[in-house]
Amino acid sequence: MSLVIFTAYFLLLLLPHAPAIWSCTRSCPPSCTCTQEKNCSVLCDRVSMIDLPKEFPCEAASINLDKNSLKFLSERAFGTLPLLRSLSLDHNNISFITPGAFKGLPNLLELKLAHNEYIRYLHTRTFTSLKRLERLDLSDCNLFNMPDRIFIEQISLKELLVFQNNFRRVPGTLRGMENLTHVYLERNKIEAVAYNSLLGLSNLKYLNLQENNISVIHDEAFKDLLRLENFYLNDNLLVDLPQEAFKSLSNLKMINLGGNLLTNVSKTWFSDLVELEVLYLDRNRLVYFEEGAFQNLTSLITLHLNSNNLTTLPFTVFEPIYFIGRLYLFRNPWGCSCGLKWLREWMDSYKLVRDIPCASPSSVAGLDLSEVVYAHLNGTCVDPPELNLTTPVPDYTTTENKFNSLISKLLQQELREEMINSTNALRNGTQQDSAESQVSAVPGLCALYKVLLLVLLFQAQIGFLSDCINVC
Ligand SMILES: *[C@@H]1O[C@H](CO)[C@@H](O)[C@H](O)[C@H]1NC(C)=O
Ligand SMILES: *[C@@H]1O[C@H](CO)[C@@H](O)[C@H](O)[C@H]1NC(C)=O
Ligand SMILES: *[C@@H]1O[C@H](CO)[C@@H](O)[C@H](O)[C@H]1NC(C)=O
Ligand SMILES: *[C@@H]1O[C@H](CO)[C@@H](O)[C@H](O)[C@H]1NC(C)=O
Ligand SMILES: *[C@@H]1O[C@H](CO)[C@@H](O)[C@H](O)[C@H]1NC(C)=O
Ligand SMILES: *[C@@H]1O[C@H](CO)[C@@H](O)[C@H](O)[C@H]1NC(C)=O
Ligand SMILES: *[C@@H]1O[C@H](CO)[C@@H](O)[C@H](O)[C@H]1NC(C)=O
Ligand SMILES: *[C@@H]1O[C@H](CO)[C@@H](O)[C@H](O)[C@H]1NC(C)=O
Ligand SMILES: *[C@@H]1O[C@H](CO)[C@@H](O)[C@H](O)[C@H]1NC(C)=O
Ligand SMILES: *[C@@H]1O[C@H](CO)[C@@H](O)[C@H](O)[C@H]1NC(C)=O
Ligand SMILES: *[C@@H]1O[C@H](CO)[C@@H](O)[C@H](O)[C@H]1NC(C)=O
Repeated sequence: MSLVIFTAYFLLLLLPHAPAIWSCTRSCPPSCTCTQEKNCSVLCDRVSMIDLPKEFPCEAASINLDKNSLKFLSERAFGTLPLLRSLSLDHNNISFITPGAFKGLPNLLELKLAHNEYIRYLHTRTFTSLKRLERLDLSDCNLFNMPDRIFIEQISLKELLVFQNNFRRVPGTLRGMENLTHVYLERNKIEAVAYNSLLGLSNLKYLNLQENNISVIHDEAFKDLLRLENFYLNDNLLVDLPQEAFKSLSNLKMINLGGNLLTNVSKTWFSDLVELEVLYLDRNRLVYFEEGAFQNLTSLITLHLNSNNLTTLPFTVFEPIYFIGRLYLFRNPWGCSCGLKWLREWMDSYKLVRDIPCASPSSVAGLDLSEVVYAHLNGTCVDPPELNLTTPVPDYTTTENKFNSLISKLLQQELREEMINSTNALRNGTQQDSAESQVSAVPGLCALYKVLLLVLLFQAQIGFLSDCINVC
């Protein structure tokens, strides 16, 4: 008796789950695999499917149809699947989606249609009745635009992936979609960002516009993006930016402006970006920073300035903050005169920057800034001399480098000795704020120039430094 009750009870316990298990595996479409672990998932990827199966298990929670040869989605193509949350159709050959194709999927959260290069155009009612959709992937579908009202029902949409299409402007349908948090628009053909392109996107955290053809950004184009954290604008055709382009983006943590055509950095661009940690300005044509350009970037950790046309980096661009983050400065024609002495000291102190090749003055060209030794006369830094070589050195990278390297090594050795002697002598003198100011004796410099002269004579290149020789 008790056994019967127990068995009945046991069956009763199983009952609500049993049909689910049977439905998921029993009504699994041919050539698909259906598994029921917690939820029913239907796997039909890479099975050369040409037409959709007549029926899917009505318990299906996820369906994967990637990498088949589907061409066409009819109305209600998937029947009624009330539990379906995720549907993936990536890498097919879909060329037409009938309006209403996704009817009957009221709980779909994620729809992936990426890499269907024949889609090209979408109807206003393509996604009708997908009221809970949160994530939509339409990347690489050869889209030219999207109808303005296509997302009228998708009020829950958070992530929109539409990279690698043919958009020439930011699709107008995005306007006012306040629930969007991530928008991927990279690798399109967008030429401008209008003042109203991104209106009302007040919850956007991630915006990718990289690798477009953007040359114009209108004033206030980004003004509603108050929550933006990661912003990619790199690899476009920007020559300049509006004075207050990023005003009010006070939550921005990373902005990438690399690979554009910027020449000057205005002091107003970044003035509100108090949370900014990473700034990319690499691969532009930067020559000039306005004083205080990085002022107020109190959270900055990394600054990428490599591959530009920079000859100098005045310390005043950072003031009043004292920047001690990581600096990337390689591939610039640095002018290693006394203007960069602060950087030389900064390199030594923080070890956060290296690879700063000097292009001038010619006596140090080819050296790294870390190898340059600044001489001092009467406490004032003396620029490394400009060698006026009468015959141009043909192989810049080898001959001159070796030559300059030799000079610099000799200079360093000379200075090192000099420094030890001066330091000893001045140990009980007035407080000195830097080692350099102690290495200021005229005799020391004469010794340096003698070495220089020797080297130069050795190279049979004469006719400079005559002033110095006179002094000595
Ligand atoms: C299974 O479905 C439930 C609700 O239907 C959902 O909360 C859960 O995340 C799903 N689990 C998986 C692994 O998809
Ligand atoms: C994909 O569809 C297009 C047009 O609908 C057709 O020209 C092309 O041959 C198809 N490609 C494959 C691999 O089926
Ligand atoms: C954003 O989501 C909320 C809650 O789901 C909804 O009430 C609101 O209408 C949505 N906003 C828009 C612009 O769709
Ligand atoms: C991008 O702009 C450049 C220069 O204006 C032009 O040569 C190129 O064709 C454009 N590319 C596209 C995809 O429109
Ligand atoms: C960049 O700054 C320099 C020096 O102030 C100025 O002469 C030049 O016109 C500026 N260039 C641009 C594109 O603003
Ligand atoms: C830095 O911030 C202060 C206060 O918010 C502001 O007054 C100042 O103009 C900003 N600096 C620059 C260069 O904009
Ligand atoms: C770099 O700047 C120099 C002058 O400072 C200019 O002659 C040169 O054309 C610039 N190069 C590029 C690639 O802009
Ligand atoms: C050294 O500095 C003193 C005072 O600043 C000045 O009078 C003197 O002319 C300077 N000497 C040289 C060689 O510059
Ligand atoms: C470099 O030498 C040439 C000829 O030898 C001379 O005309 C020129 O003025 C010199 N330049 C400098 C900066 O000394
Ligand atoms: C430094 O002092 C030592 C002796 O104290 C002396 O032999 C040496 O020549 C001095 N070096 C220079 C560069 O004056
Ligand atoms: C240097 O000054 C300190 C006190 O400031 C003194 O104790 C020391 O004897 C002095 N040394 C020399 C060599 O004058």
